[in-house]
Amino acid sequence: MAEVKTLHFESNPPPFGHEMRKCFSFDPEYINMNHGSYGSLPSPVAEAIKPYYAMAEANPDLFHRFTSIDLIRNVRERMAKFIGAAHTDEVVFVPNASHGLNAILRDFIWEEDDIICSCNTTYKSISKTAQYISDIPPHPEYSQFTILFPTTHNEIIENWRTYLQSLNEARARSAHRLGRRPKIVAVIDSIISVPGALLPWKEMVKICKEEDVWSVVDAAHSIGQELDLNLADADPDFWVTNCHKWLYAKRSCALLYVPKRNQHIIKASFPTSHAYISPKKRTGPNFVEQYEWNGTLDFVPYISASCALDFRAWLGGEHVINAYCHRIAIEGGKRLAQILGTEIIDQDQDFQFTLNMVNVAVPFPATMSSDFEIDMAFRRKLLIKKKIYPAFFYHNGKWWTRCSAQVWSQVSCLLHSYFPHPPAGSIPGRRF
Ligand SMILES: Cc1ncc(COP(=O)(O)O)c(C=O)c1O
Repeated sequence: MAEVKTLHFESNPPPFGHEMRKCFSFDPEYINMNHGSYGSLPSPVAEAIKPYYAMAEANPDLFHRFTSIDLIRNVRERMAKFIGAAHTDEVVFVPNASHGLNAILRDFIWEEDDIICSCNTTYKSISKTAQYISDIPPHPEYSQFTILFPTTHNEIIENWRTYLQSLNEARARSAHRLGRRPKIVAVIDSIISVPGALLPWKEMVKICKEEDVWSVVDAAHSIGQELDLNLADADPDFWVTNCHKWLYAKRSCALLYVPKRNQHIIKASFPTSHAYISPKKRTGPNFVEQYEWNGTLDFVPYISASCALDFRAWLGGEHVINAYCHRIAIEGGKRLAQILGTEIIDQDQDFQFTLNMVNVAVPFPATMSSDFEIDMAFRRKLLIKKKIYPAFFYHNGKWWTRCSAQVWSQVSCLLHSYFPHPPAGSIPGRRF
């Protein structure tokens, strides 16, 4: 059986900070402050996957019919352990978080008076998925939970409980009228995209259980950023994470976790696989087989997740990497807020919302509200003119920037976003 090779390194890694840029392929003039959106591929991982591309081209049939399936089984086993799943066969690869979340949400059998809910802070295309599901027959109701920063984990937990209880009261009324109990499905972010903020998602999942609500966790930003994942313990109903973000796998690579008890919900993979067996004829599980082959795509990014774990071990492992990134996020965010005369969104003294993304208020007039043209103007100015890119967003009456800290970042990187003539310690090779 083909196995993914472990990466071995002859030397020690460069120190964190600008020296670490040697391990990535960035344009020397570009300051990447937005690792959170698309991730960044380390050069050693890019090198390590070349032999798999060679295998695919040496004999496409052999690779796609046998070798890649063995290799991906091998990686799934490793990833399942990494995220603390109870069984390897609860974890499959999908190209991206949108794909995984759509597969879950569209595979529920929706009925009249069911409720699908997300938050005002849910990633836009995912709340649009919920809206779309509500727009087509049988029109389950779409409901939104509101999170407004600044807030606290305790406030979110309490509001979540009250919110789900109110949905439950509505459900009881419908049940009385319909003579059956409608279902409620909640999409919860583990780490919100904008603001980049860790939610108390494990507590929110627990409240879902207490209130008999399905929990679908959008954990796009979790793997590689959130430490010590233990899904068997957190026990969400569904959970999806992007390995091409914080884990350093090659795009497009994501994991879909469905505990065995819920695999009957995912009746067909998305797209449908030749391995699909009609539920009427099933004699056992049919989840993994469907996801092993449901259309031709580039399977090497899935293999890259294993190489990314080796690279991360070389850097010192999960705790070392994330301790550095978190420190830069906090120090850089505080310094930037001080210079701008603003604040960071996470006002908790222990920074309970902040992992490696920090959100700093930008002193634009409150009257300048979010719109597509303004977003595009930011993107053009920052990406093309200034060659730096942190994310920008409008939340609760203010403009904010979301800076992602990474192993190549230094506090000075965050300050470059706003200062064309930065203080000492600028990125080597960058012209100002
Ligand atoms: C919270 C969240 N969910 C889902 C997505 C979608 O990820 P993808 O584009 O890889 O499907 C993102 C992307 O940034 C995200 O931040």
